[in-house]
Amino acid sequence: DADALVVFTPSGKRGRFPVGTPVLTAARQLGVDLDSVCGGRGICSKCQVTPQFGEFPKHGVTVTADALSAWNAVEERYDRVRGLTAGRRLGCQARVEGDVVIDVPPESQVHRQVVRKEADAREIVMDPATRLLLVQVAEPDMHEPRGDLERLAEALRAEWGVGAVTAPLPVLAKLQGALRKGGWQVTVALWTGDAGPAKVLDLWPGFHEGRVYGLAIDLGSTTIAAHLTDLRNGTVKASAGAMNPQIRFGEDLMSRVSYAMMNPGGDREMTSAVRAAIDGLAKGLAEEAGIGARDILEITVVCNPVMHHLLLGIDPVELGQAPFALATSSAVGLEARDLGLSQVNEGAQVYVLPLIAGHVGADAAAVALAERPDQSDDLVLTVDVGTNAEILLGDRSRVLACSSPTGPAFEGAQISSGQRAAPGAIERVEIDPATKEPRFKVIGSDLWSDDPGFAEATGATGVTGICGSGIIEAVAEMRMAGLLDAGGLIGSAEQTGTARCEPVGRTSSYLLWDGTAQGGPRISVTQGDIRAIQLAKSALYAGARLLMDEMGLDKVDRVTLAGAFGAHISPKHAMVLGMIPDVPLDHVRSAGNAAGTGARIALCSVAARREVEGLVSRITKVETAIEPRFQEHFVAANAIPHASDPFPNLRG
Ligand code: FES
Repeated sequence: DADALVVFTPSGKRGRFPVGTPVLTAARQLGVDLDSVCGGRGICSKCQVTPQFGEFPKHGVTVTADALSAWNAVEERYDRVRGLTAGRRLGCQARVEGDVVIDVPPESQVHRQVVRKEADAREIVMDPATRLLLVQVAEPDMHEPRGDLERLAEALRAEWGVGAVTAPLPVLAKLQGALRKGGWQVTVALWTGDAGPAKVLDLWPGFHEGRVYGLAIDLGSTTIAAHLTDLRNGTVKASAGAMNPQIRFGEDLMSRVSYAMMNPGGDREMTSAVRAAIDGLAKGLAEEAGIGARDILEITVVCNPVMHHLLLGIDPVELGQAPFALATSSAVGLEARDLGLSQVNEGAQVYVLPLIAGHVGADAAAVALAERPDQSDDLVLTVDVGTNAEILLGDRSRVLACSSPTGPAFEGAQISSGQRAAPGAIERVEIDPATKEPRFKVIGSDLWSDDPGFAEATGATGVTGICGSGIIEAVAEMRMAGLLDAGGLIGSAEQTGTARCEPVGRTSSYLLWDGTAQGGPRISVTQGDIRAIQLAKSALYAGARLLMDEMGLDKVDRVTLAGAFGAHISPKHAMVLGMIPDVPLDHVRSAGNAAGTGARIALCSVAARREVEGLVSRITKVETAIEPRFQEHFVAANAIPHASDPFPNLRG
């Protein structure tokens, strides 16, 4: 029989096949990534390819119009009923007739690269744990008394090369009905997330048109963010955030651990609260995206160790005291129903990323997965700023991690006029060093406070308070304008020459905005605010400095600010304050919500789950709580910017 040369693009894979070979078969034999849900039955259309015509000198072929077989009845029917894009063929139906070059478009590739919006962020290669597969199962036979599940497993092996298969009870309960209703054809959602047997998560009679969705969850102590993601292409269909309802049991992590210690059953209350919140987010996101919540089959979670234990229903009491022993630091895989999640599919699988140590969580592991400091030639300090700062320092040779108790001041809490980042919050501040007069911007308006039309532009909200990035800029600007000394003391009106420095008891505060005439608030930076920011920034800096000591270095090459808050911090002001070590300002970048990105990467890729597990096992943990040098660094970092470390990049 005659052979024909088949070249696939963009992979460049090529081989010779007998005339009459289906394109899908050739692709599979060459290991070309060509999708299929229906196993070549002309139903799912996932196998679409684009034959190329003309001269291809590189491949030594001229492709003519009859290089592939003409449309057959299956393709014709498909085109009639659902329409096939011009120039496309179904790879499972088109057969090779002569030398041919065939392009596999991105949407027909299973393991395609998804280009992410953030220009400098890493790309995700789609490799989801759960896929839909259509199979034709043999009918039962009295002479071969095998069960329906065994014949389903046999069909999955023969058609899809799947090894051992298990099915949980809810799936077994509907297996027989589905097989008979579908005429022995069923679509199964098959999970292959680890080296164990594949799991049938759900099944539908015949061909199921639906899609598989996943939820990537960044479970923080204050907020829970969730991203509903299409697991075919990695697109985020909807995102939402909710307050962590555990806040009513304690603002920060340690107060929640104490709540669990002091109140019998307190841990269980907090567990139920957070699980209910996740359920609510799943429901809301599915409604927003117009999908059924039952199509959510995968969930990944990143969180700090206390949130981790409380989500899983493990008493966090051990995390409240040295040696901060975790119940487990490994990645945890479990069923959504084990967490009592009732909105998502009954068979949905949950993957919780591994923890780095008793104080350094899966959120830091997710940042490491998104940022891969271990692949950097430069020494990079990555800081995820929240109520706790997670800090990673490393390059190709080594990566170290610690966490530092910054407290919630950077989020606007414990600040006299502090508030969360929301419309009306002051987020940018400038103070004229000559006149000592401030100007600022609030969230929700592009105008500065001294621009004409500012009052109208801020609308009904007006100026309501100051958020985390605003207070950092205010304190740094006060220092640069000479309103604040290196020890963090606000000068009096006489010392500074401005009536904005108002006496408050034995201290002073600096008036940023007086909105009382319009019925709004007076917004000042008080001595207490400065102290709260000093404590927070000293903790952050001391953590970073401790890791630098451990590395034996006193400078870093680059700084990456992660977290929603990190995205809004001005690098210059952070450095004036001495939050981060000295580097050239253009070596400071924001990585956005890197922990959430890490959760999304793990959601879309099984390979990435193995990657983060390997990465975490190579990260060296540094414990700040028991390290005496942390205290020394903390005290020295109290000054603005610092008592002894030089900041040469701040000159000029
Ligand atoms: Fe499903 Fe071709 S593989 S239509």
